[in-house]
Amino acid sequence: MRAKAIEEFFNFQFQKSALSSKRGLVHLFSQMADAEGGNSGELCLFDKIEDYVQDPAIKNIIRVHKADEERHEQMFLDYIKILGETPQPLTDEMRLLKMLDRELDILEKPVTSDQDVINIMTLLLVIEERAILEFENMQKVFKNDHAIMSMLEEAIKDEEKHLKFCNKVIEHFKADQNKVDEQYQEYKKLEDLAYRKLSLNLMNFYLDNEFVENEFSRKFWRFMGGIARQEIEKEEARKESYPIPA
Ligand SMILES: [Fe+2]
Ligand SMILES: [Fe+2]
Repeated sequence: MRAKAIEEFFNFQFQKSALSSKRGLVHLFSQMADAEGGNSGELCLFDKIEDYVQDPAIKNIIRVHKADEERHEQMFLDYIKILGETPQPLTDEMRLLKMLDRELDILEKPVTSDQDVINIMTLLLVIEERAILEFENMQKVFKNDHAIMSMLEEAIKDEEKHLKFCNKVIEHFKADQNKVDEQYQEYKKLEDLAYRKLSLNLMNFYLDNEFVENEFSRKFWRFMGGIARQEIEKEEARKESYPIPA
């Protein structure tokens, strides 16, 4: 737990230094836009659920949720345009949901039962919570940038609404709350580790591409990245004992 708190502190410090360059900023917003829609895989989950559910009110919730994520994607893409740049190419090593799906295998599977919908909505709860946390952390990094702050505020408001959407859909299918809680905890553990790996991948990419200009700083962050990698590897070894959800 302590190692994770230190990692979070250094993530913040690192972001402050890497994102002061325009290239860093463009990459960050490319990645954020992609996580909202793009190739992250989240949008296809909405389509599958919308096809499966019959209830018009639930269908509508799914549609609104998807439209919100697409609007966020567009907002971040527009910001890149305002900067006079184009979105940067990304790999699956920079996509949280894709990394998580290596364990869960949920993105490609068809939705054929109420339980499939409950599982996806429980996973989305974890993803939405991560988005909120990430945007709140960014608010600390960009507190003097009015344009970024207002985008983040809007996104956070929507993501909080999405948590309610997810819970509404779960309730609609009369899910056993104890089972949902258990599933949620399992997803949370897996997501947490995937997120730490993602942060490390991004950090290495930022360093390889010299988003951090000072060479001494780059050496320092490489060293910190090495420590983070060791901690993640330890956690992965422990994870062997985690039950992998169905
Ligand atoms: Fe979003
Ligand atoms: Fe969301």
